[in-house]
Order: sequence, then C-alpha cells, then structure tokens
Amino acid sequence: MKRQVKGNVSWVGYIDWELESFHGDDYSIMNGSSQNAYLIEEEKTVLIDTVWLPHRFEFVENLKKEIDLHKIDFIIANHGECDHSGSLTSLMEEIPDTPIYCTANAVRSIEGQYGKRGWDFHVVKTGDSIEIGNGKKLIFVEMPMLHWPDSMATYLTEDNILFSNDAFGQHYAVEELFNDKANPCLLEKEALKYFVNILNPFAPILKKKLTEIEKLDLPIEMIAPSHGAIWRENPMQIVEKYALWADAYQEDQITIAYDTMWEGTAKIAHKIAEEIHKASPDTVVKVFHIAKADKNEVMTEVFKSKAIIVGSPTVCNSILSSVAGWLEFLKQLRFKNKKAAAFGCYGWSGESVKVLQQKLGEAGFAVIDENVKSLWNPGDEDYANIPALVCKLMEAPEA
Ligand code: FEO
Repeated sequence: MKRQVKGNVSWVGYIDWELESFHGDDYSIMNGSSQNAYLIEEEKTVLIDTVWLPHRFEFVENLKKEIDLHKIDFIIANHGECDHSGSLTSLMEEIPDTPIYCTANAVRSIEGQYGKRGWDFHVVKTGDSIEIGNGKKLIFVEMPMLHWPDSMATYLTEDNILFSNDAFGQHYAVEELFNDKANPCLLEKEALKYFVNILNPFAPILKKKLTEIEKLDLPIEMIAPSHGAIWRENPMQIVEKYALWADAYQEDQITIAYDTMWEGTAKIAHKIAEEIHKASPDTVVKVFHIAKADKNEVMTEVFKSKAIIVGSPTVCNSILSSVAGWLEFLKQLRFKNKKAAAFGCYGWSGESVKVLQQKLGEAGFAVIDENVKSLWNPGDEDYANIPALVCKLMEAPEA
C-alpha cells in the first residue's frame, strides 16, 4: 500500500477506481480518481492529509500495516473538505493526542463537520515552518479560496516537494502514481476539467497566489496534489498551464449548447454550426444537447471557447428547466472574456431568446442582439438570420 514518492516520502492514499461522481453529483468522474495522502518518515514522522470518509477504516488499517500509528509525530491537514479530512475521526480514535497542523479556517471547518473533539490543533500561517529532522523542514503556504477558505499547501525542503492539495490535481485514477506514467491526453483533459469546474471561479485569486509562490523562490522538483497524478516529470508544466488558464483563457472555438422539445431548436443549433464552419473554417465548433451531455465536460468546452450560442424553446413564458439549471452553473463558474448569442423556437409568446440573453449577461458574457427566433418549426426565413448572427458574434467585442 505504501508507495515511495521520493526519498523518505511515501504515498498512503486511496485510488478510487469506482468513483462516479464528486461533490454529490455535481462533478462527473469519467476516469476514476484518488485521494492522495502522504507519509514523511524523517526524524519526525508526518502524515499529510487522509482520505474520504467511506474509506476511513481501510485507510487506518493499511496505515497500521506500514507503521506504528503512535510513531506519527504530527498530522498536516492541508484542507478540511471531507475527501481529505474524512478519515481523521477514525485515525484520531487511535492517536487522540497527535498534533494537527492546519489553518485557522481549517480548525473551523474540521470542527464544524466532525464536532469539537478536543484535538490538539496548531494553527499555521504562510511562512510558518516546522523542523522534521535530517536538515529538512515543512513550510506552510495558505491558499485561501483555492478552493475553500481553509486550503493550504505544504512544502518539504531538501526533497523540494510541494504538497499542493486540490490545486494542480485531477480526478483521474493513476495506479502508477506519476504524470510520466499517465496517459498524457487524459491527464491534460482531466487537469483542465478539474480547473474549469472547481477552480475557475477563483481564477483571480489563483493568479495572485501563483505570483506569490513564484516570489518565495522555492525550488520545486515535484508537485504532489491530493487527487490524481503526482507531477514528477517537468512539474512546472502544470503551473504554467494554470497561469494560462487563470488568465481569461480562450481558443478559436465556438460552442453551441441547447435543449429542444420537438427538435426545432435542435435544427437551428445544427444550422448555426454549419454556418460557423462556412464563415470560419479554422474555428472549432462543438454542439451539445444540454439535457443529454455531461455538464462538466460541456463547461470545459465552454471554457475553451471565445463565444457560445445557447438555445431553448419557450416554455411557460421562459426556458426549459434543463437550460435554466445549466445557465445557473455557467454563472457560478465566472468565465471571463467570452461572447454569447441566443436562439430558440416558440409557438405562442416566444420569451426564450430574451430570457436566455438576460441570463447569459448575468453570467458575465457579452451578449449580442442578433438571434434566431423561430415560430413553430424553423424554415428558410429563420435560417436566413443565421449568417448575420454568426458574423456579428465573430465581430463583437469580448466581455
Ligand atoms: Fe479534494 Fe476540496 O477537496
């Protein structure tokens, strides 16, 4: 179970091949995941993070097979969310007096979730450190809102490992542990999906934090996140990617997302895709049925896009509930630097386009007036409006 990471640092986490969703059902898991915990055995023995609550008994039993639990001098809790703190309750029943080092907010979140149990918390701040023997120390870096107020990273000197917790992670099961052993396409895909769906709302904070970490001038030979592959080969590649992604990232891509009742709105979606390709053959075009496509995968495509075009028929003076829920998620993710347009069919009152435009504006998109609004089924007179919509969208300034 214990696997060497580097020197006297081992991985003691849980590879979650069966996980299908995360954050309830708000994040889809397509390629498994892991909760990474780490054991450092220098003159002091240190455990960094634990694993999710359902695996707590297995975690503690496995750890017992590796070391006498009473040899653990202290625990670092980089983050209080239960996928990393969930095994603390079982572990602390065995070693209740072991000090736990974490941020002040982590004390609040851990006690908030598991109750006040009299654990020996030691609050740390950015720049604080602890000696662990053999000339090595652990330095703490607070990472508030990346992605919880309690988040922090821990840096191990001499081995030069940054235990970054959620930052730089992926929901991706890699039994071989390291990025150089993982499928590079899947690794990048899952790292991006994680960034978009979990970290993008905090991108401005992340940008500042990356600069702050750079100023600390710590040599980084390995980045060991709390999910997915450990960045061993060229670890700074993911830091460089984060710097790009956090800076209002976009590619030459337009994403069309719609739901439909009787296929009319779907027909418009496909006609728009054809017209974009005709007008700009190099632009990547993606089309998604909102109610059928995975929302986290679609949002990752939206993130890559310079513009989106969203469609819904009119239902009860508004839009389909699938599209309304999707737009709420879109707003939460706080994308920057993107444009949008709307389309949809109607039979009576025809409010969907107006509602879509309003909600896209509220989500931070620069929305153009041009639209396609079709009474009953779309026909040539409706399709004739598509070139103007595409042209205006391409020319419009970004938000
Ligand atoms: Fe992986 Fe925010 O927990």
